[in-house]
Amino acid sequence: MSATPPGRAGAQPGRAADVSGDPLLGPVVVAEAQLQGRIAELGRQITSDYSGRAPLLIGVLKGAFVFMSDLARHIRLPVECDFMAVSSYGSATKTSGVVRIVKDLDLDLSGRHVLVVEDIVDSGLTLSYLRRNLLARHPASLEVCALLVKEGLQRVDPDLRYVGFRIPPDFVVGYGLDVGERYRNLRDVYVYLGAVGSVP
Ligand code: IMP
Repeated sequence: MSATPPGRAGAQPGRAADVSGDPLLGPVVVAEAQLQGRIAELGRQITSDYSGRAPLLIGVLKGAFVFMSDLARHIRLPVECDFMAVSSYGSATKTSGVVRIVKDLDLDLSGRHVLVVEDIVDSGLTLSYLRRNLLARHPASLEVCALLVKEGLQRVDPDLRYVGFRIPPDFVVGYGLDVGERYRNLRDVYVYLGAVGSVP
């Protein structure tokens, strides 16, 4: 069996997935270079805002896992990371705001400076539920960093301290975002052109 040779430091990274010819992918909404540039800026801003404190990053699974991984590495502070998995009831394109915690946090939030890391805010209902749930655990502070916010769709004021990009209200995939668990590994964010089926 031939072993895969290790990567060479300084080598140009290759494209992770070849998506050319996928008829379900529309235009790129946010390209890799824009994502990486903005995430570096967010990291610098968070580093400055939390100076002297050790923020606890809470990633909302599954969509935020790629963003959280990049963002955490741009924060020049002793961060801690925890994850929570939630599932919303409703159609796959619209959440009802009724959220079930599928995986809860491992860490105690009391007295901690908590920064929730979200992939995308659509109606804002998931975040509104999460905020109430997490505030009940008595953190010293609670802020939200959302990579993408769909313009004009929020049914509640999401109160976001950090926002990566405001995007049109299309269904998008890539950079952690999926449809039926696919496309999370794409380096850019694309409009998804296919039908998005119902979820339980
Ligand atoms: P909200 O409660 O309507 O704000 O929906 C937020 C959640 O719905 C996100 O955390 C995603 O899991 C999912 N979601 C909303 N819009 C999209 C999208 O365009 N692509 C992939 N997932 C989405």
